[in-house]
Amino acid sequence: MKLLLHTDSLVDLVLNPNDSFSEMLSRKRISAWVLAASLPEAYSRIRETVDEPTARERLNEMLDSLSVLPMAGPEVKDTLQNSHTEFSETLSSRGSRDNGLDGILTTQPDRFSALNVDAFTLDDLTERLAQPAEPVSQVPLLDIPGSYHEWLNSAENELYDVIRSGKFILGPQVRRLEESIAQYCQCKHAVGVSSGTDALVIALMAAEIGPGDEVITTPFTFFATVGSIVRVGATPVFVDIDPVTFNLDMSRVEDAITEKTKAVIPVHLYGQCADMAPLNTLAAERNLVVIEDAAQAIGAEYKDRRAGSLGDMGCFSFFPTKNLGGFGDGGIVTTNSDALHERLQILRVHGSHPKYYHKFIGGNFRLDTLQAGVVAAKLPYLDQWTAQRQENAGRYRKGIADAGLGDRVRPPVEVESRHIYNQFVVRIADGQRDALREHFKQKKIGCEVYYPLSLHEQECFRALGYKTGDFPESERAAGETLALPNSFEITAEQQDYVIEAIQDFYS
Ligand SMILES: Cc1ncc(COP(=O)(O)O)c(C=O)c1O
Repeated sequence: MKLLLHTDSLVDLVLNPNDSFSEMLSRKRISAWVLAASLPEAYSRIRETVDEPTARERLNEMLDSLSVLPMAGPEVKDTLQNSHTEFSETLSSRGSRDNGLDGILTTQPDRFSALNVDAFTLDDLTERLAQPAEPVSQVPLLDIPGSYHEWLNSAENELYDVIRSGKFILGPQVRRLEESIAQYCQCKHAVGVSSGTDALVIALMAAEIGPGDEVITTPFTFFATVGSIVRVGATPVFVDIDPVTFNLDMSRVEDAITEKTKAVIPVHLYGQCADMAPLNTLAAERNLVVIEDAAQAIGAEYKDRRAGSLGDMGCFSFFPTKNLGGFGDGGIVTTNSDALHERLQILRVHGSHPKYYHKFIGGNFRLDTLQAGVVAAKLPYLDQWTAQRQENAGRYRKGIADAGLGDRVRPPVEVESRHIYNQFVVRIADGQRDALREHFKQKKIGCEVYYPLSLHEQECFRALGYKTGDFPESERAAGETLALPNSFEITAEQQDYVIEAIQDFYS
């Protein structure tokens, strides 16, 4: 549940401290907000009763368990111009509605009666929470605003720092994020770039891969892995996947190497690392560059080393649905090589070094400074979110096993030391995947197929000369896999609803 404390309730709770209120918020997983615009008024009202240090201390204490809801200047102004009832109540209603909150906590619900919003007192709320919870009737695949109460205020700080500085291109925010991500990924360097796709393109460019070169990769991945190889003029060479992990089958890579092979791109699909040790041994013997596509795998580990530190370069995406996503596109390349680091930095700004003197043809691959701020604000939460995703994965696994459905709905197998579950992907036996997907749709359960067509069968790659049947494991995975909702915000009740829907489907 998400609620907004109207000024009167905030003042009341500050003046009559109530430990059970903050305890109730955490026990019932309620995110409680207070309008930024209401804080000065609340403070003045509190000051009417207590002295200044006490007012400050108590309000600060209260704010520890609340998040501050921002409203844009024009929204506040527009509310004032167009409100036909009290400004303060109209503003709260608008803040609650526009931000998808469930209602308003107030000492005077009647003041909201004309405002088309659910308003209730603390007693009403306590009573409602004592009732059995409404049964779950839908589960979104992802709920990005669902975690705003944790980090939106930090992101706002970063965004306003950039806006106020007027410096929107690279600068200290991008540098700081690069240092933090390098450290998080156990790497020496990181270079912020415009997307996960551009991370792959610039990494290939930094490795001087182009026309006439071959790059070995998996056909069971997001399009960008392979699109990037073609975009630098090289030729993708596919190797089938390991059916257990959905990652590149390393035992088949050697057979695909020719004298033109320059690099291999293993993809850490769904958040689990590919089997890097045999690949790195082979790459060292055959002088191949290894570029990790770690777009889905920030924080994943292979034998206690982090994704991004396992090859020559690691490519990450900050696409909003990733475990560490921004408010738009963004990405980063990690490396332990000083030479590659320098090259990546130069390629990112059109190959210019010094400014306006171009060593190579690069591109505009810069990470947007505003996005760097958002990602930096979220990074401190990443490990706790990952732990939550892992716990959810365990709960799904148990639910599927307890329901006796393990043969029909096969959960992912954890092979490496830290799977970060960007996706929880099950394999559906007996050709039932699409029917189950349809059943989920009826039950309002978000799910997705990553990916429905193996890349060697895509129309745009026809010229590569592959045909259906060339990569049977990849083709089978494309027909059998289904991602269940597994964002870190999902509740145990929502997961139970998903398991019940699966039971219902097979009954
Ligand atoms: C495996 C993989 N590689 C590359 C990308 C491309 O990242 P972006 O969308 O940030 O360009 C993605 C993003 O979905 C991905 O999942």
